[in-house]
Amino acid sequence: HPEHSDALVIFGVTGDLARKKIFPALYAMAKRGVLTLPVIGVASSKWSIAQLHERATDSINESGGIDDPDAMSVLLSRLTYVSGNYKNPETFAALREVLGTAVRPAYYLAIPPALFETMIQGLRDSGLAENARLIVEKPFGRDLASARELNRIARSAFPEDAIFRIDHYLGKEAIMNILYFRFANTFLEPIWNRNYISSVQITLSEKFGVEGRGAFYETAGCLRDVVQNHLFQIVALLAMEPPAYRGYGAVHEKTAEVFHAMRPLSPTDMVRGQYESYRAEAGVPQDSDVETYCALRLYIDSWRWQGVTWYLRSGKCLSETGAEVVVQLKAPPQRLFADSHPDGRANYLRIRLSPRSAIALAARVKRPGKEFIGDQRELVLVDEQQGAETPYERLLGDAMAGNGALFIRQDAVEAAWAVVEPILENHPPVVPYFSRSWGPESANRLIEADGGWINPMPE
Ligand code: BG6
Repeated sequence: HPEHSDALVIFGVTGDLARKKIFPALYAMAKRGVLTLPVIGVASSKWSIAQLHERATDSINESGGIDDPDAMSVLLSRLTYVSGNYKNPETFAALREVLGTAVRPAYYLAIPPALFETMIQGLRDSGLAENARLIVEKPFGRDLASARELNRIARSAFPEDAIFRIDHYLGKEAIMNILYFRFANTFLEPIWNRNYISSVQITLSEKFGVEGRGAFYETAGCLRDVVQNHLFQIVALLAMEPPAYRGYGAVHEKTAEVFHAMRPLSPTDMVRGQYESYRAEAGVPQDSDVETYCALRLYIDSWRWQGVTWYLRSGKCLSETGAEVVVQLKAPPQRLFADSHPDGRANYLRIRLSPRSAIALAARVKRPGKEFIGDQRELVLVDEQQGAETPYERLLGDAMAGNGALFIRQDAVEAAWAVVEPILENHPPVVPYFSRSWGPESANRLIEADGGWINPMPE
């Protein structure tokens, strides 16, 4: 049992990530009575502690309101603030002072990757990295080379098992359930392969646009923002071989194996789209070729998946907000009934990942009457709101407890970049699409051979 961190330091505490995700997670921990350690915010702004308190309060108000004033006071009473330039050793000296007797702090880098090196050097040179943990957020680089460079920097001060790389999708209830559902049941494994599955599709659609993050988005685009990380992690959980032992290392190994088996992507297997008003967003140039929609056709060259096509798509300003997986089974070998497999879709497994968490198995059953005519039904195994614990709360708690199960190992990061590397620069131009549509028409052609996209169910 690793020791629990005894202080949490948030670099970039005045920023967007802290406001949107970290404060709400800390508040939720306070509500459950588990926020027992000091929380030290660090940033370059010369804020007073009152200003930081105000920011924390705003953040909780924006994310659902303060329904437990006692928990809110606990959160505020835990907060301290250190302001300073990250290049200046005095900043780290001040931090050491505030850390006091803490011997195993966790450092959360809620800062742009461009500042990582300075920050990590500062921690290393001041001796503050010893016995400490490092929590980092995507983007883990923007291609294979920069991912390796970022890792070199992190590893210059922290061992691999002290680095917690967050992909918040892994902290989602429905996504944890993919692993559980696959390996806690017997009936799935015999059909979970190329013999019975014809294709798999995953959609992550959002109704909203880039929401003021235009300048950031220009450095990323849909492929880097959600596909190479979130969607690939979902593919890994669906495609992985059974982990051979209980330790989480086994899941990490099987995840990396999936990425290693993925065929590097080709530009002909990609459609890029851009919603009509994207170029009017602040921070976006008139001639932007950054994609806000991306659809891919992907292959996993393994014994299990040879011949099965994986379709991935994601986009902003689409018709619905939702994430869903459809695992399509092959049509029955013979067509005994006139209506037995409309669109070849008789049997599939639908896994809804968000906003609700659902798993449903589809089958045909006969309608009462003398004719052999049937209906398509779904056996719904689960359909519920996500659990009370948010991904950030769960992952932050896990990182501070030293539990690395739901974090990304560096070999997986690199293998995933290697898959997308051939299409990062060499890709078709963006095709415009209308807001509230399902993306460019050409994305439909990508999946024609497998019966077309299935849109996530409306809520
Ligand atoms: C983030 C992306 O990683 O994931 C966003 O940067 C995206 O662009 C978000 O909207 C989606 O996450 P969720 O949890 O809202 O589905």
